Amino acid sequence: MSVRYWISLAKTEKVRKAEHYTKSPSGTSISKTMTTFYVTTPIYYANSLPHLGHLYTMIVADTIARQKRQQGIETFFLTGTDEHGINIERAAQRNNRTPKEQADYVVSYFKKMTAAFGLDTEHGGYDIFMRTTEPFHCEGVSEFWRRVAKAKTPKGREALYKGHYEGWFCAACAAYKTEDEYAKPVNPDEPPTCLVHETKLDRVSEESYFFRLSDYDEALLNLYESCPEFVQPGVRRNEVRSFVQSGLQDLSVSRLRSSVSWGVPVPDDPNHTMYVWFDALTNYITAIGFGNEQQQHAVGFEKFWPALHLVGKDILRFHAVYWPAFLMAAGVEQPRAIVAHGMWLDSNGRKMSKTIGNTIELDVLNKHFSTDAIRYFCLRDMVFGQDGRFGYENLIDRTNSDLASGLGNLSSRTLTMIQRYCDGRIPQRNISDDGLLLAKRAGVDTDEAAVSDFVAHARDEFIRYFDNFAFSRALEEAWAIVARVDKMISDAKPWDLAKDASQRETLNAVLYRAAESLRWLSVLLYPVIPNAARDAYAQLGLTDDPSKIDPGDLKWGDLSEDAETGEIKPLFPRIDKAKTMEEIKQLGQEPEAAETRPSGRVLSAADSPSSVTAQGSGQHATEVDAMPTMAGGTPALPAQKEIGEGLIEITDFSKIDLRVGEVRSAERIPKADKLLLISVDIGEEKPRQILAGIAQYYEPEKLVGRKIVVVANLKPRKLRGYESQGMLLAASVGEEGKPVIATFGEDVPNGARLK
Ligand code: MSP
Repeated sequence: MSVRYWISLAKTEKVRKAEHYTKSPSGTSISKTMTTFYVTTPIYYANSLPHLGHLYTMIVADTIARQKRQQGIETFFLTGTDEHGINIERAAQRNNRTPKEQADYVVSYFKKMTAAFGLDTEHGGYDIFMRTTEPFHCEGVSEFWRRVAKAKTPKGREALYKGHYEGWFCAACAAYKTEDEYAKPVNPDEPPTCLVHETKLDRVSEESYFFRLSDYDEALLNLYESCPEFVQPGVRRNEVRSFVQSGLQDLSVSRLRSSVSWGVPVPDDPNHTMYVWFDALTNYITAIGFGNEQQQHAVGFEKFWPALHLVGKDILRFHAVYWPAFLMAAGVEQPRAIVAHGMWLDSNGRKMSKTIGNTIELDVLNKHFSTDAIRYFCLRDMVFGQDGRFGYENLIDRTNSDLASGLGNLSSRTLTMIQRYCDGRIPQRNISDDGLLLAKRAGVDTDEAAVSDFVAHARDEFIRYFDNFAFSRALEEAWAIVARVDKMISDAKPWDLAKDASQRETLNAVLYRAAESLRWLSVLLYPVIPNAARDAYAQLGLTDDPSKIDPGDLKWGDLSEDAETGEIKPLFPRIDKAKTMEEIKQLGQEPEAAETRPSGRVLSAADSPSSVTAQGSGQHATEVDAMPTMAGGTPALPAQKEIGEGLIEITDFSKIDLRVGEVRSAERIPKADKLLLISVDIGEEKPRQILAGIAQYYEPEKLVGRKIVVVANLKPRKLRGYESQGMLLAASVGEEGKPVIATFGEDVPNGARLK
């Protein structure tokens, strides 16, 4: 089968018709004109109870699903459990249960937890909790296997063949390990150790079915090339590409039933059990009816496939290499995209996992924090795609500052004033011609568009960032609205206007604008903080449902005047930090040294693929939380050490003096085609002179007036006879390292320090 064929499969007529990609600076988005949408989380191993890391993917998927539903798109959201394989068997043995009892136990906890966090069907969350032990899945995956077994590879050979495998197998990873993925033993009689789990590997030597992955390299590379949005973000796409370019080995896709009995039998060869990843990945299509009548009727494969797969970067290889190759073999259309997020780390920079025992427990989170606060924190504090550190203190601080004092306070102060000054009714919006002069005198901008344009622009930006998975940036836009409206209120001082009867219209207009902005915010933020958004919306006296309003359709002025506002209740009560931290400490859940961190986010040191490949003491080898990332990222030493070595103290960071600067002039330097001579005002007496190697990418005149970031305490040095008194910061993008200058989305004074 030709490569071209597979690429055309990536876009069926249905998808082509339905999609309209919105290009943006950060790439191709998932915002399309579409009628159906399918989003998935990984299905989680049923050997141990979920923690914050698992919850995170579900929150992201749930948020995306809610926004798609708001836009009127029929959405199907899948999460669930991966219930077969030796890990489950071993966990069951340890707990004196049958494997099915083990899975049932974990699933009942998952369901309780998803309900508590409002992620289940009843609360508008997932549509299916998929279990790989469901008979309809076993039926579907068997059909998938049969199709692969009949297929020819793009190079014309059989996609599946029987061979003999001998190798080192890590039960916890459920994967065979290559030489660079294990540590050789000191004593040659001992088995090697898995670098991920630091547990001994099993020598496996047995008959096995193989998937001829090695024949799919070109087809996969073509797929990544022709659909750049297939693997996101870009950094992960590059990893996947280099993994495939470095050469693919055939994949053992079965184990003898005598070694692993808990799994789906290979069709027509019951001595073999399917490889757990073959079984698990296929859940994404069996759940909606591939190869089985039951789900086909209930959901409809044709209707919802292809899916957007959200995964942690730890399991990217399985989703972006193996899965597409299996699908190619079976003749099934490729997923819409595979989008990988970063890992939640503990305060020492280690991936949060059961194996290490450094997890944030969901019971504790649920007891002390509202689900909306947790959702907001996860999306705001973690830059999507990068790793992030979790700290309870950060969660409390964010809840108190952004939610209680920010949005919550804006809502309650606006509604209280409407209650007090307008009899609890939405006031009149317009100021008459006679009143305009008076309003101006009171310092109120008579041009309503000053506020409405700001709000509409922030809404557009919010949606754009959101569609590109830049949730943190999207939320910054929403909070820019909060700050703008807060400022409008503080400037206009409604409490003074209320004392002057001649300013009645001005007072009304100000409060109308505040209330209308809150209506927009409630709709915009519904996918992120559904409960608070609904409450805020209802408190404005509105009776329809923000979950059904497309934020893109909001029109300024649609808030009806004279409508009675609802009962005022605080959206986010303040959290008593000292008391809550003490309670959490009592439960043994306070992550060490959380208070030494200025922010919940890791800058970059831990955000390498290798940071998740090897860690942990391997106390509970069967409790799998980590899987290896792409080849080449496997460290020679346990990453625990590398992570420690790669990280810096906050005191190290504070040695660097980063300042906001404004470019006053920029010019080329004769005979130096890469350098620009730039004069930058960083709030000092005289502008600094800086040489920057960006001449091939920036026109000097276009830089003038631009705000940039300058390293202000770098020793001066001479280049081409000019002294450079600092350095500007730029991202290095792509293989050629194209510089992209760091800048600001908001106005910042020259000389402001970056901390
Ligand atoms: N069962 C496989 C997935 C099969 S999908 C067809 C598996 N399960 S898992 O229980 O280990 O969960 C994997 C996923 O949980 C990760 O990819 C990620 O989505 C989430 N996380 C687990 N720990 C995490 C962090 N510390 N941080 C963020 N997410 C993490 O692999």
